[in-house]
Amino acid sequence: AVERTLSIIKPDAVAKNVIGEIYSRFEKAGLRIVAARMLHLSREQAEGFYAVHRERPFFNDLVAFMTSGPVMVQALEGEDAIAKHREVMGATNPKEAAPGTIRADFASTIDENAVHGSDGPDTAKTEIAFFFREEEICPRTR
Ligand code: CMP
Repeated sequence: AVERTLSIIKPDAVAKNVIGEIYSRFEKAGLRIVAARMLHLSREQAEGFYAVHRERPFFNDLVAFMTSGPVMVQALEGEDAIAKHREVMGATNPKEAAPGTIRADFASTIDENAVHGSDGPDTAKTEIAFFFREEEICPRTR
């Protein structure tokens, strides 16, 4: 089925100037960008977005990293978009990411791992709504 998922290009990858290379991988995987925005997350925004991780030991470092520079946020649309996106991203820990994946090629550590992607249909919905109003999303009709 056609799905939507939320993608974030994190501050480390923005700093490496590889937004275009990462977009190119999305496009080659058949994922279409249907909404996009660059922003520098506030602490409140980062804490809110990652609220499910609030009790995890890495939470403070995660928030500090995600607010350390601008991020590029996009909604991606396509057949099986959630799984496809996770496939092109590679494992959360870049040391375990398959060769040729975004994290294998652009990330160095589990904390600074270049990209974020929704992990399922429910999180995709809430994560997209966190950044985009429905009328800001441009579904592809051709
Ligand atoms: P992300 O998919 O953005 O979701 C939460 C982030 O926390 C994750 O990517 C990692 O960058 C970071 N993180 C740091 N340590 C861990 C860990 N042990 N398990 C999962 N995520 C971690």
